[in-house]
Amino acid sequence: MTETQTATASEVNRVSVIGAGTMGAQIAMVAALAGFSTDLIDIQDQQLEQARTGLAKRLDRDVQKGRRSQDEVDTAWARLNLTTDRDAAAKQSDFVIEAAVEDLGIKKSLFSELDELCPPHTILATNSSNIVSSRIAEATNRPEKVCNMHFFNPALVMKCVEVVPNPQTSAETVATTTALAEAMGKDPVQLHKEVPGFVANRLLNALRKEALDLYNKGIVDFQDIDTAAKTALGHPMGPFELMDLVGIDVVYLIRLAEYEQTGDPASLPDPAVKELYEAGRYGRKSGHGWYSYES
Ligand SMILES: NC(=O)c1ccc[n+]([C@@H]2O[C@H](COP(=O)([O-])OP(=O)(O)OC[C@H]3O[C@@H](n4cnc5c(N)ncnc54)[C@H](O)[C@@H]3O)[C@@H](O)[C@H]2O)c1
Repeated sequence: MTETQTATASEVNRVSVIGAGTMGAQIAMVAALAGFSTDLIDIQDQQLEQARTGLAKRLDRDVQKGRRSQDEVDTAWARLNLTTDRDAAAKQSDFVIEAAVEDLGIKKSLFSELDELCPPHTILATNSSNIVSSRIAEATNRPEKVCNMHFFNPALVMKCVEVVPNPQTSAETVATTTALAEAMGKDPVQLHKEVPGFVANRLLNALRKEALDLYNKGIVDFQDIDTAAKTALGHPMGPFELMDLVGIDVVYLIRLAEYEQTGDPASLPDPAVKELYEAGRYGRKSGHGWYSYES
């Protein structure tokens, strides 16, 4: 491999996942289960411990339910290294998946430092849902090796991975990222162009917007909208049930962040969602959202 080449899928042996939170912990285990030597990196030992405990609980349950063998799980644990030594891990990494906090400043400085530390062939991907990689690529000297690789929560279960190139991303980077997602047992979706929200979340937002519009106009109760989504469209849950699951606070704050970026009043949170947010009705996590979960 010459220094300027991009790692091909077969040359990816070691994967680094940055950030051991909700997404990073499971993405790292997906990589380890798929046979990659994997470093899961965080700045806090406590986050790594939480990741270890959370993953152990989930995988033990998978073994008990016969979804995975104990042997498969033990081998994956042996391939997974949990560490705060980012620099040592980055130096050996063929592919980085960044899943740190959703903060442009943090991501830019991380990518700039990773660019210095990682071998020249290494692809630097971000799992960000809202920050397109063109905003991060400029912090590196390898924008052609930067893209979004967007997993869904829970990453151990959800099959979709969106591969999103920025205008400078090379075809080789897209090919390796897509092949890596496939090697991880996922069904990658390849976008040709960068667009905020990518594909799945745009579809979800369109459905949610229409559902809220029908409800706000007093045309139909929200429970009946959920029923129609399930019984006519075959969705596993309706848009209001899904908002409660994701968290009304998350739904509200994502729209607010979007408004702050676009300045477009159409991006503002829906008034009914705002009302629930201000009343502290965050959905399942608070016992009350659109529905009540107190019983
Ligand atoms: N939560 C979701 O449902 C979801 C789904 C898809 C994509 N994403 C994206 O994944 C990313 C992570 O989201 P999350 O929900 O897992 O966040 P989280 O808050 O659960 O975890 C973030 C982790 O990053 C760590 N971290 C912060 N700065 C760091 C640094 N400089 N180096 C290493 N680690 C650092 C934190 O300690 C924390 O453990 C975000 O970009 C988000 O947009 C989230």
